[in-house]
Amino acid sequence: MSRQLIAGNWKMNGRLAEARALADSLAAAPVARGDTVEIAVCPPFTAIHPVAERLGGDRAVALGGQDCHAAPGGAHTGDISAAMLADLGCRYVILGHSERRQEHGETSADVAGKAGAALDAGLVPIICVGETQAERDAGRALEVLHAQLEASLPEAGAAGIVLAYEPVWAIGTGRAATPDDIRSAHGALRADLAARLGNGGRSVRILYGGSVKPDNAAGILGLDDVDGALVGGASLDSESFLAIARAAAG
Ligand code: 13P
Repeated sequence: MSRQLIAGNWKMNGRLAEARALADSLAAAPVARGDTVEIAVCPPFTAIHPVAERLGGDRAVALGGQDCHAAPGGAHTGDISAAMLADLGCRYVILGHSERRQEHGETSADVAGKAGAALDAGLVPIICVGETQAERDAGRALEVLHAQLEASLPEAGAAGIVLAYEPVWAIGTGRAATPDDIRSAHGALRADLAARLGNGGRSVRILYGGSVKPDNAAGILGLDDVDGALVGGASLDSESFLAIARAAAG
């Protein structure tokens, strides 16, 4: 199994001065230079290049985008292609985040198309799935996860992706999923991956996202089938993001 991945999703935060300052403190951190955990940041498009410059050429912290278009180029006003992200030095791209599914009406089929484009451009798609509170209350959480995963995978399948379980009700609420919830969701997703990829589905990392903070990180990252975290709010503060990374490094 590869290293745990701690990825920061800055969402629509980080004007240039803030983004550069955050990049500087991450680049200087010893944990980012270690080999037990992989750290990535996904700034808004406008800050990717300035952050890349601050992280430097021998980048200890990987870069990612927060979305890309499914087409390689053309008449798509306001959109960004996967190859454009690759040009900027990105290794990852977050796809199908629930905020995009909800605010932009993205479907799992859209996500699958984008994931295919990301793989074609040499990026690793971080595909997000997660149930709403209403779906959980109706006892449908695992069914929703299974359906979203199956429909969000690119044509090429699950090889070369990262998966993120982000229960919608845990995002930005301060109410992380319980260890039991996480075990059951990650176990079900792992079984789906195993059925597709063999080898216990271990070649794909499954991240947990939703109110990961320094004080709950060790408990979450120590669970079986949790291979890292996708961190929102706490990734905007270098101290708390690095504390989460140190928890992953053990
Ligand atoms: P929070 O860590 O702010 O809950 O956000 C999680 C998330 O949406 C990461 O993609």
